[in-house]
Amino acid sequence: MLLLSTIAELRSHLANKRKQTIGLVPTMGALHAGHVSLIKRAIAQNELVVVSIFVNPLQFTPTEDLEQYPRQLERDCQLCQQLGVDVVFAPTGEEMGIAGDAASQTSTTTVVPPAAMTSVLCGKFRPGHFQGVATIVTKLFNIVQPDRAYFGEKDAQQLAIIRRLVKDLNIPVEIKACPIVRESSGLALSSRNQYLTPTEKERSAVIYRSLQQAQQAFQAGEKKAQRLLDIVKQELASVAEVEIQYIELVHPETLEFLNEIETKGLLAIACYVGSTRLIDNIVLYQRQPIIAIDGPAGAGKSTVTRKVAQELGLLYLDTGAMYRAVTWLVMQSGMAVDNEEAVASIVQGVNIDLVPANSSNLPDSVYINGKEVTQAIRTPEVTANVSTIAAQATVRRELVKIQQRWGERGGVIAEGRDIGTNVFPHAELKIFLTASAAERARRRLQDLRERGHQDIELEQLIQDIQRRDEQDSNRSIAPLQKAADAIEIITDGLTVKQVTAKIMELYAQLK
Ligand code: PAJ
Repeated sequence: MLLLSTIAELRSHLANKRKQTIGLVPTMGALHAGHVSLIKRAIAQNELVVVSIFVNPLQFTPTEDLEQYPRQLERDCQLCQQLGVDVVFAPTGEEMGIAGDAASQTSTTTVVPPAAMTSVLCGKFRPGHFQGVATIVTKLFNIVQPDRAYFGEKDAQQLAIIRRLVKDLNIPVEIKACPIVRESSGLALSSRNQYLTPTEKERSAVIYRSLQQAQQAFQAGEKKAQRLLDIVKQELASVAEVEIQYIELVHPETLEFLNEIETKGLLAIACYVGSTRLIDNIVLYQRQPIIAIDGPAGAGKSTVTRKVAQELGLLYLDTGAMYRAVTWLVMQSGMAVDNEEAVASIVQGVNIDLVPANSSNLPDSVYINGKEVTQAIRTPEVTANVSTIAAQATVRRELVKIQQRWGERGGVIAEGRDIGTNVFPHAELKIFLTASAAERARRRLQDLRERGHQDIELEQLIQDIQRRDEQDSNRSIAPLQKAADAIEIITDGLTVKQVTAKIMELYAQLK
């Protein structure tokens, strides 16, 4: 692992590595398990990972803890090395072009996010904070030019502002949001937890408890902001030493105040425990559940997914059909399928509709830009070209967006390699459907023999499957991983019916 402190060194190091996918994890150091979860995700999804460690003076208001903020570079570097980080970038203030005077935004060009997003929640109490964050993050994006950057949902307002920044300034980076990591008490991890005494720490657990109570009420049907906020306040009041700064319910993307949750709501809190300021939040989704099924090729995902969709009346979000539809569209246009620029322009803003068939023997209807292509996408020509299309980053990104839009309403089930980890990280039920290589090879052999291929050896198939698993787990786009909160089902020795029944049982338990 390299520890670099100048922009010139970092740029020169990365200049030779631009062919690799680069993941950036911006931090202020004093790394804890929350940061580690971001770093691990970045390592799993990128070939090269840069962790930046910089206590950014621009984001501290004059009365805040800039001087006192924990700095432990040596320990952080050891941790990054153990995790397999490639580069730790730890510049000085001067190197970042920020004069020593804390929070002075006159010393540098400043990025100003929309006031509607910075004047609410934490922004109301930390004037200039989000300009400071937006400025430093923009600088880091320009210095590193990562393919993906990782942020925690712990700082939900920061995440929303950065997503907006990237969109508004057309910065070519994919923002990846990672779930909040908590202590067993429920307290969200934070570098500032170091300031808490053991008693204060114990008291702080009430914050998440209060959010959970609101979540329970929400699940029981309470959608009104005022009622949900009251529930949080009431629970927080049970620990007198916790002083509320704000509790609000806003839209998680626009940060607009909500009177009622229609699709989703971000319930966010800031409070003081002693002199330490703590924040936490929870996102409440008003939608039907989503089931995400991932797993290695040949484990029976698509058969099982179709069956569960039918049994539960869920929409089978056929991602394969979506890639086929795009392939068909590109082929229709007369462009070469490997012309990534042309494909990118075709796929931008494409509209794909899936209409479930009402009879189980028919395939679901597929429409692309209003044209029905259900049969047209099943031709051998499309089959021959679909993997070239699916391997393109722009196609993947656009289709993930479309899939996520379908997910907004919920009531869908999807299968793939990265559905639970990437497409629907908030799926209510995540299944990792797998089977031993030997079992998958046996199934494949039987299938091939039924289709008249007699001359294939089981041993060869096992080796092919193991090689493919290895490749799928290390892909730069959509690698196969098991989500931390996925339930693993090993299908060795189980029938499709048994597996389906098991998933339906897990689904029933969600309610
Ligand atoms: P810092 O507080 O060090 O956090 C770095 C990243 O770790 C942020 O994206 C934050 O949301 C995430 N994180 C912190 N605690 C977490 C937890 N318990 N679970 C999951 N993720 C967690 O946020 C900043 O630094 C700065 O504002 C920065 C973006 C680096 C700009 O200076």
